[in-house]
Amino acid sequence: MNILVFDQAGQLAGALARRVIEAILARPDLVLGLPTGRTPQLLYAELGTLTCETRTDWSAVRTFNLDEFVGLDGRDPESYRQYMERQLFAGVRVTPHHVGFLDGKASDLEEECDRYERAIASAGGIDLMILGIGVNGHIGFNEPAPGLQARTHRVALCPETRAANAALFDGDLSRVPTEGLSMGMATILRSRTIVLLATGEEKAAAMTAMLEGPITTAVPASFLQLHPDVTLMLDRGARTSPR
Ligand code: GLP
Repeated sequence: MNILVFDQAGQLAGALARRVIEAILARPDLVLGLPTGRTPQLLYAELGTLTCETRTDWSAVRTFNLDEFVGLDGRDPESYRQYMERQLFAGVRVTPHHVGFLDGKASDLEEECDRYERAIASAGGIDLMILGIGVNGHIGFNEPAPGLQARTHRVALCPETRAANAALFDGDLSRVPTEGLSMGMATILRSRTIVLLATGEEKAAAMTAMLEGPITTAVPASFLQLHPDVTLMLDRGARTSPR
């Protein structure tokens, strides 16, 4: 894995935003995999600014987000779909029908997961997958468990994951859904290039486990060790030795 450590989270966001813009300029119909959470917010803001400055055209870009809450649909203000609308899509003018998203309110969630796998395959697969990481080493909503799912699937959320997402629900943990839909580990690992972002000391233990520990379902991110083209972009906090 390539590991890039930045002094400031803002520098990291700027460097990755430039890489994304260069990738779109080289390939206007780039297929991007995208995360939610606090970590990518600076990246998304930077992408809005750089897109304006460089007049980059996103109209042919296709996107697939990693995950969504079960029970919320794309119009729900607390959904990841609406988070993406606020943080990125409005700023860079992605063509609405090029946005791939899981519908957490689909009547048949199993079929919804299959539909997502088919949609990613028919887009030709994901060229550049950008990932965050949970404090427990989760990727998307692939939570630590005795076994991981390969394909897009429905998953019960861990208490720490629900707590980390409470801010989206006005800090009210009782309103955070107990289940999610997520791309599976094989879906993620089929991406041609992967960039994982981690900032802050609260991610340091997960980074150490992922980089220095064995490949284990207890740390889903450790499976990234199997991929030939992964770059970790970290700030100093995320690369400190965990206490
Ligand atoms: C959520 C998302 C993940 C994200 C993680 C980290 O649970 N489902 O895709 O990577 O949180 O979030 P944050 O960046 O806020 O720490």
